[in-house]
Amino acid sequence: MGNNGNSLTKIFGILTSGGDCPGLNAAIRGVCRAAYDRYHMQVLGIANGYRGLIEGDARFLTPWDFSGILTRGGTILGTSREKPFKSKPGDYDHALEADKVEAIKENYRKFNLDCLVVLGGNGTNTTGYLLAKEGLNIIGLPKTIDNDIVGTDRTFGFHSALSIATEAIDRLHSTAQSHNRVIVIELMGHKTGWLSLYAGVAGGGDVILIPEKPYDIKAIGRHLEKRFQSGRGFSIVVAAEGALSVEEARMDKKERKKYREQNPSLAYKVAREIEAETGMETRATVLGYVQRGGIPSASDRVLATSLGTAAAELLAKGKYGRMAALLGNEVGSIDLSIPAGKVKYVPEDHYMIDTALAVGTCMG
Ligand code: F6P
Repeated sequence: MGNNGNSLTKIFGILTSGGDCPGLNAAIRGVCRAAYDRYHMQVLGIANGYRGLIEGDARFLTPWDFSGILTRGGTILGTSREKPFKSKPGDYDHALEADKVEAIKENYRKFNLDCLVVLGGNGTNTTGYLLAKEGLNIIGLPKTIDNDIVGTDRTFGFHSALSIATEAIDRLHSTAQSHNRVIVIELMGHKTGWLSLYAGVAGGGDVILIPEKPYDIKAIGRHLEKRFQSGRGFSIVVAAEGALSVEEARMDKKERKKYREQNPSLAYKVAREIEAETGMETRATVLGYVQRGGIPSASDRVLATSLGTAAAELLAKGKYGRMAALLGNEVGSIDLSIPAGKVKYVPEDHYMIDTALAVGTCMG
């Protein structure tokens, strides 16, 4: 559905949704500068993700808005975790959700949009796919530090978070060694362990815990004791916030939710379990939102700019219902149905797990 077909100048809306990350502004700049300079389009900046589209909180951007933002962290548009389709018929707020979708369609028409470009993770691109099924022209870009979007070999934000986490792990080595301690660092990644796996390998973690592989505290204890007996008096445990023990993995959803409420931080829980299991002095660090802050790495700047300009080309060619994606070493695009509703988990036979094991890492 394009409401602006009678004019040569296409108008597209752009929004950023979900968790922020370094590289979002580089991607905004890539889309907008290519669309504005090369394809002479008008850009409507939408505030705070889908909430801005529901509320009609948007304004036309000028080159001044999307210049000089390549290296800026965060998103100049603001973001939210608004998910217009999140409820299902029968949920108490389903009626309200239906209004949100109608409001989006109404504002899409009111702003005379030919297309809506959405920068986000799984939830954002799934919402984009559902809006495409409602008749809107949608183009997605794959953003998240979690790197868990199906259909793209990497998401922008991941490499910057990987660099931040690796530097933190490097710093922990010196203090752990000085005190002959075990230090557990908790990284982001509720559902998937890509960031912890890669940062654990990059930072030389002795133990890496990811949500995809429930851990056995006795196996961890044996590994740490073996390291200690070989003369290395310290160890680093890299743990994704969503990692869980084999006992927790056996719990049903309700039990696990209650258990997590009593043990809000994985790092402190694992540190306590390690001390109880081995008697080794253990400390915990939660890296948290530091992983999502600051300027994008060079690699993320290149990836975000490439995906952004690829999205502008899809816009110009009217190739809607697609997500720009890294496919091997090339930037291309895939149908939005491919990532929609899915999460890319670390497969147990992934080469990076074998790489970690090959250098003596314990995977729990
Ligand atoms: O989706 C990216 C992410 O940073 C996850 O790794 C993390 O668990 C989550 O967002 C945190 O969500 P929020 O920013 O809403 O606290």
